[in-house]
Amino acid sequence: MAKQTPPIITLLSLLILLFMISITTEGTKKSSYEKLFVFGDSYADTGNFLNSPSYKPPYGITFPHQPSGRFSDGRVLTDYIASSLKIKSPAPYSLRNSSDLQFGINFAYGGTGVFDTFLKGPNMTIQINSFEEIIKQNIYTKSDIDYSVALVTVAGNDYFQYLFKDGKNIKEILDFSASLINQLSINLKRIHNVGINKIKIGLLEPVGCLPVITKTYDKCNDTINMLVMKHNELLLQTVEDLNKESKSVFVTLDLYKSFLSVIETMQKKHYGNSRVANVLRPCCVPESSNYQCGSVDERGEKRYSLCDNPESSFFWDDFHPTQNGWDAVYKMVQTSLSLI
Ligand SMILES: *[C@@H]1O[C@H](CO)[C@@H](O)[C@H](O)[C@H]1NC(C)=O
Ligand SMILES: *[C@@H]1O[C@H](CO)[C@@H](O)[C@H](O)[C@H]1NC(C)=O
Ligand SMILES: *[C@@H]1O[C@H](CO)[C@@H](O)[C@H](O)[C@H]1NC(C)=O
Repeated sequence: MAKQTPPIITLLSLLILLFMISITTEGTKKSSYEKLFVFGDSYADTGNFLNSPSYKPPYGITFPHQPSGRFSDGRVLTDYIASSLKIKSPAPYSLRNSSDLQFGINFAYGGTGVFDTFLKGPNMTIQINSFEEIIKQNIYTKSDIDYSVALVTVAGNDYFQYLFKDGKNIKEILDFSASLINQLSINLKRIHNVGINKIKIGLLEPVGCLPVITKTYDKCNDTINMLVMKHNELLLQTVEDLNKESKSVFVTLDLYKSFLSVIETMQKKHYGNSRVANVLRPCCVPESSNYQCGSVDERGEKRYSLCDNPESSFFWDDFHPTQNGWDAVYKMVQTSLSLI
């Protein structure tokens, strides 16, 4: 009997030890939140572009009921990704000195691209430089970064910049796409090299359906959407190659399919209902091309009109979905992610 006791005690203490280890690791995971670092443009910006229309009415009327620097009536893609990680939306980099950085930082800046655009905001390279600067300041531990997620939405503004400069032929545009994706690939590697192991990249949305392109809101421009599909093919190929080097770090969010599918579903649902007959029509419409959503003239008169209910619109303004739109798009993207 006496000889059998020690192994039992050993086994027991081993189990207790394992149990305690599991409690300890559980504890550390819980005490530090996952963090989200965000790069790109207005689809992800939550307040970096100070003094832009996104900080003026009617932006933010749905959430947080006042302008907050989001280019929508409410939440944008970043907010939905943060919520799926069960964290608060990360602080905009522009507000870093007065913000809690424990949920990460949002570097995305409305109007910017991979390359420089018509706006003076920081391109993606500069955004990643800022990220590297922050990392050097040791605000975050190595394990913070190991548990972090990055979100990237970019390239729409690069095409706006490029396509509307002057007439471009298809060959020129395809060369441009190739150099854009090449630079984007370098950028994505840099984010991974800092230590982030989960990087979500939005495929380019169907730009040909944006109100700024359709103008009369009757149908999407197929020529432009074809170019977008080419861009997305190249991006998917690049992400596949990157994942061969660094196992499954990169995941794409299909904003192309999800935008189209949500628009189509809304079209079917509203078919015959004249009040919302046209799903491509934004909620906030400027009076003329001299104005934009939020424009106010010298006399303080509004130069735009608002729909009754942003909850029934997909687009908020000429470029951006409503919160309702993002909510539906995010649900679609999430469904397709969980199928992988
Ligand atoms: C934040 O603080 C740093 C250091 O004090 C300063 O250099 C920087 O300009 C500040 N940035 C903003 C956006 O206020
Ligand atoms: C990003 O912006 C910086 C500063 O304006 C510029 O020097 C650099 O060439 C830009 N990078 C790209 C890839 O366009
Ligand atoms: C689609 O956009 C292209 C490029 O801006 C333009 O040349 C073409 O006329 C548009 N097509 C339609 C049907 O509006």
